[in-house]
Amino acid sequence: MRRKLVAGNWKMNGSADSIRGLLQGIREGAADVAAVELAVFPPFVYLGLVEQQLSGTAIGWGTQNLSEHASGAYTGEVAGPMLQDFRCKYVIVGHSERRTLYGESDQIVARKFAAARKVGIDPILCVGETLEEREQGVTEAVVERQLKAVLDLEGIGAFVDAVIAYEPVWAIGTGRTATSVQAQEVHAFIRAKLAALDPAVAGKTRILYGGSMKAANAGELLAQPDIDGGLIGGASLEAKEFLAIAKAGC
Ligand code: 13P
Repeated sequence: MRRKLVAGNWKMNGSADSIRGLLQGIREGAADVAAVELAVFPPFVYLGLVEQQLSGTAIGWGTQNLSEHASGAYTGEVAGPMLQDFRCKYVIVGHSERRTLYGESDQIVARKFAAARKVGIDPILCVGETLEEREQGVTEAVVERQLKAVLDLEGIGAFVDAVIAYEPVWAIGTGRTATSVQAQEVHAFIRAKLAALDPAVAGKTRILYGGSMKAANAGELLAQPDIDGGLIGGASLEAKEFLAIAKAGC
């Protein structure tokens, strides 16, 4: 059985004060949702604070990005071994905001995925189509292309501990969630693609849904057979709402 993962992508939000409060709230409610794994993804500068606040709890943490390089003259970048220093369990790679706003290609994303694995941090690979692509009927082709870049570089074995997040770009921060049927369709497609290469790995890989997920729609989404959790943006900034999403997955 795949244990559900509910992950909070805080994006570029929060302050030391607000993060202390948010983590306190999550820590207090975590025991009620112990059936589900929880993880949070702060901006880099708060990683030390998060590590300090969550050490000794069952809640995991990680970052929203990493460099494809391990060290060197890359001003402004943060490398995998540095994340290891802060005991990150996961790292998000290929979020659509990185792909569209910062020009990350499928190949760059694949190299970041590899950089995370190299230091023993499980990558959460984000994939998903834009509204235009959905309307053109190329959703599956887009997701397949994004997956293929990683499979070509790292092979199917890399997905044993990795996580995939299907995040339709048109659903991110828009309040417009994919229906559970739409999401399940793409999740099943992703799993089938993995299964064609290795059914055992496909059975283990967790595939999260992301895009305007909140407590009110989480139950239906998380009840789908191929939806193994959520990658939550806005709704992860409030402990009560984040925990209510996790509760829906218990
Ligand atoms: P929202 O939940 O704010 O739509 O963001 C989703 C997301 O991008 C998570 O990575």
